[in-house]
Amino acid sequence: MSFYVTTPIYYVNAQPHLGHAYTTIAADILARHRRQRGEEVFFLTGTDEHGEPVAQVAEREGVSPAELADRNVVHFKRMVEALNCTNDFFIRTTDSEHEAGVQRFMQGLYDRGEIYEGTYEGWYCPNCADFKTDQEILDGNLCPIHRIPLEWVKEDNYFFKLSAYQERLERLYAERPGFIAPGIRYNEALSFITGGLQDVSVSRPNLEWGVTVPWDTNQVFYVWFDALLNYYTALEYGTGEDVRDRFWPPDVQIIGKDILKFHAVFWPAMLMAGELELPEQIFIHGFLLMQGEKMSKTLGNVLDPFLVIDLFGVDALRYYCFREVSFGQDGSISTEGFEARYNTELANDYGNLASRTIAMIDRYRGGTVPEAAPPAELMEDFAGLRETVAAHLDKVELSFALEEIWKRVRRLNQFVEQRAPWNLAKDDGSAALLDETLYGLAEGLRVVSVLLHAYIPDAAGKALAALGVAPADAPPLDDVEFGARPGGSEVERIPPLFPRIEAIETAPSQTGAG
Ligand code: MSP
Repeated sequence: MSFYVTTPIYYVNAQPHLGHAYTTIAADILARHRRQRGEEVFFLTGTDEHGEPVAQVAEREGVSPAELADRNVVHFKRMVEALNCTNDFFIRTTDSEHEAGVQRFMQGLYDRGEIYEGTYEGWYCPNCADFKTDQEILDGNLCPIHRIPLEWVKEDNYFFKLSAYQERLERLYAERPGFIAPGIRYNEALSFITGGLQDVSVSRPNLEWGVTVPWDTNQVFYVWFDALLNYYTALEYGTGEDVRDRFWPPDVQIIGKDILKFHAVFWPAMLMAGELELPEQIFIHGFLLMQGEKMSKTLGNVLDPFLVIDLFGVDALRYYCFREVSFGQDGSISTEGFEARYNTELANDYGNLASRTIAMIDRYRGGTVPEAAPPAELMEDFAGLRETVAAHLDKVELSFALEEIWKRVRRLNQFVEQRAPWNLAKDDGSAALLDETLYGLAEGLRVVSVLLHAYIPDAAGKALAALGVAPADAPPLDDVEFGARPGGSEVERIPPLFPRIEAIETAPSQTGAG
């Protein structure tokens, strides 16, 4: 089994913000989870370096677009690393192999008569690098996304015969209702298609920063056509060998709802024109909002992922985004929300569960997980958990999967309180019950940690190591069977996985041993 997952490639015209981190983490969670299932994974992310969004900022800053890209790409690469992401390649659209791949693909369309010469006239947003229809624009001439004045452009360029694909796209949507998810986005894209498709510009004259049109060197490709093809060209050269046979087409392409039209309409039509297989699924998530507005560099309300990582740690960021906002929908985030979930869920629910489980095994059983039968009530609560989590993740339901795991984390804490091992330890007659309790906790902690590994790899890895589980980059999901690992292993005390954050140190502390 192979699994190919992609993120959008981000414009290098500014520093990365939490919105970019969000999509990248989502793809990483899926990539890690699939590796845990034993699948061969290719996870792609990267930067979109051509076109007006980059050229304009470069001009404003008095540097060449190439210099700006070289300067900013560093931050995006650093972000991916700081997020603990396991991408197999980081594509830059200025890679010469990518540029050559774009030229080959587009020349093929031109040779087959899919592209023709024409004149475009209409509104254009340089930040979106997108043409806007009269229905889309705000207050006469404002971009609905960036709220900046649109430009009226009239230019000679080349067009792709998108209109010729209307019927085939409608058929695709009818035959494959899962092609675009969630359903609300499927409906949105379908109504865009049934509303009537016009041919689209694939090139821009008067722009130098882009991939040269091979049959007319006075033009460069419109940045979106160059950018979308990254998903294909990367497989040709990213790992030093051509892995298209193994990984094409993508299984899941994750994007934000701002770029739905390009991915749900242009992209499949281009692939049809190029006679390539279509992706299995494009999953569209919502916006992270700050103070009720989309977080965006243009609106200036962005959270810096590096700062968040410094404050809370990378696992906390990876966790919070999918917990606070149901993946797929829009949702507000805030530093207060971060602190609250960090303390109540990561520090208390999970961190404390790990600390006290290890500490009690250490204190009451000399550091060895007792041999015992798994407690029946926990067996019941954990039955089918792996399948449930995997089924949610197959549907890219990152928040639902996490909620299922978290229910078990809470269940284990409840179990500690119910069994009160610190009382059992006082009574020799309860030794067998204490064994069963500690064994059940060790197993529960192990199972949730393997499942959480895709979300919070550092902390889950530490918890597993503390339980004496052999270290692994992708702890196999096959092992996620409550009661499958016998007792007998040595545990090791660890410092708190999520040390409490000073600011709200006054929150009530948990009772019990630990
Ligand atoms: N370069 C194009 C994409 C080309 S893909 C072939 C682009 N780049 S971008 O830098 O503007 O990044 C857009 C993407 O960043 C969104 O689709 C989304 O994945 C992510 N996000 C940017 N802001 C976001 C939020 N406020 N909330 C959630 N995701 C956000 O468009």
